[in-house]
Amino acid sequence: MNKNKNVFTSKVGAILATAGSAVGLGNVWRFPTEAGTNGGGAFILIYVLFMLLLGVPIMVTEFAIGRHGGKDVSHAFVKMSGGKKGWRWMGLIPMVSGFLVLSYYAVVAGWTLYYAYEALIDGFSGKSPEDFTNDFGAFSSDPIQPVLWMGIIIVLTCGIVALGVQKGIERGAKIMMPMLFVFILVLVGCSLTLPNASKGLTFLFQPDFSKVNSSVILSAMGQAFFSLSVGLGCLCTYACYFRKDVDLMKDGLHVASIDTLAALFSGLIIFPAVYSIPGLQPDAGPSLVFVTLPNVFQHEFGDMTWLAYLFSLIFYLLLVMAALTSSISMLEMSTAYFNKNLHLSRPLATVIVSVVCLVLGTFCSLSFGDWKDVQIFGMGFFDLFDFLVAKLIMPIGGMLMCIFLGWVVNEKVLRDELTNHGTIKSPLYPAFRFIIRYFAPICIFLIFVNELYLYFINLFGAY
Ligand code: ALA
Repeated sequence: MNKNKNVFTSKVGAILATAGSAVGLGNVWRFPTEAGTNGGGAFILIYVLFMLLLGVPIMVTEFAIGRHGGKDVSHAFVKMSGGKKGWRWMGLIPMVSGFLVLSYYAVVAGWTLYYAYEALIDGFSGKSPEDFTNDFGAFSSDPIQPVLWMGIIIVLTCGIVALGVQKGIERGAKIMMPMLFVFILVLVGCSLTLPNASKGLTFLFQPDFSKVNSSVILSAMGQAFFSLSVGLGCLCTYACYFRKDVDLMKDGLHVASIDTLAALFSGLIIFPAVYSIPGLQPDAGPSLVFVTLPNVFQHEFGDMTWLAYLFSLIFYLLLVMAALTSSISMLEMSTAYFNKNLHLSRPLATVIVSVVCLVLGTFCSLSFGDWKDVQIFGMGFFDLFDFLVAKLIMPIGGMLMCIFLGWVVNEKVLRDELTNHGTIKSPLYPAFRFIIRYFAPICIFLIFVNELYLYFINLFGAY
């Protein structure tokens, strides 16, 4: 084991931990929802394009900054800028976004844990389609139950992060990520044997460009960012723990491939299942996973109730694990800031951040029920946090990091970081540099302005 406790012990550990951060509810819950409501195959093509042209370069940007600094994000920016102290404020991005993103993410993660529990006690059996709709509405708007399930997720996450980089984060990823992929493959195998599976495949892979408009393009970019967790400083935080021999460009491509595969496989589980029952639609939106699917699981296997039981249980356990590996990285962002900058011990920093997330998460959970009418800028807490993270921090954070690396950092420092001081070849370096200097900042800026414009149009339209 590496003597420095704040370094991932192996290259595989680094990839699995980072892939764990990327693969999450965004892949298994958000991706099929987005693909389903935005026309399927055409959306996926645009999404993959955004992954390659923006997602991977920003991911590598975060890796380079974090690994060069090696301590935490604040110090990383100062060190990479050549000692300019003003850049330490960039460390506030992961600190703030860690709180915001975990608070609302843990709410949905809590729902998945509750559904895994329901699957375990065979709670879906004998229910009608209306029951599933009513049950989800009643559960998500309850003031106590979802908060308790969210609390369990936060406590689990807190326990793993408190154990540290090697014994907690890396070990957790090494156990959970292989299990996650085994679960995915088992479910894909099952789903593809269902009647009408080919219709699900057609929906997923046959592009229909007549559905593509500016909103589909925006959603595809948002999904690529969310899925890779770029712009939040999450990857930058993990890269602080990378060994010096990690090939950053290769790792970025590996993590993006794992993440995209996980998303596509989730589509291969969900859409054949949805099409196996005539009359169900793939564009049910966010309730797809909590209303449509449990209903499908109960009816698609006919008399083989044991198969329905197993399928549901494995599916919701898969969601729980995907959520956990991501929430660990979210908690780590703020924890690392408190640990390294305010010199709090890791366990104390972890507990403080967790308690704050629990309080903020409670606000988010209540916004589905008792606090539905509490609106800030026309949004409830859950939607507000999602807006702040996905629409503001991710694009602004990603853009600032590209500008920093492309225009502020000395080119030799960047080249040394990406070629490990000339010891490895980096044939994509010129393309990478062009993207972070010109393409990514301009593209994100235009998309960002457009998003804000659409948001204000909606806001004023609402009044
Ligand atoms: N990247 C994380 C996910 O996909 C946030 O869920």
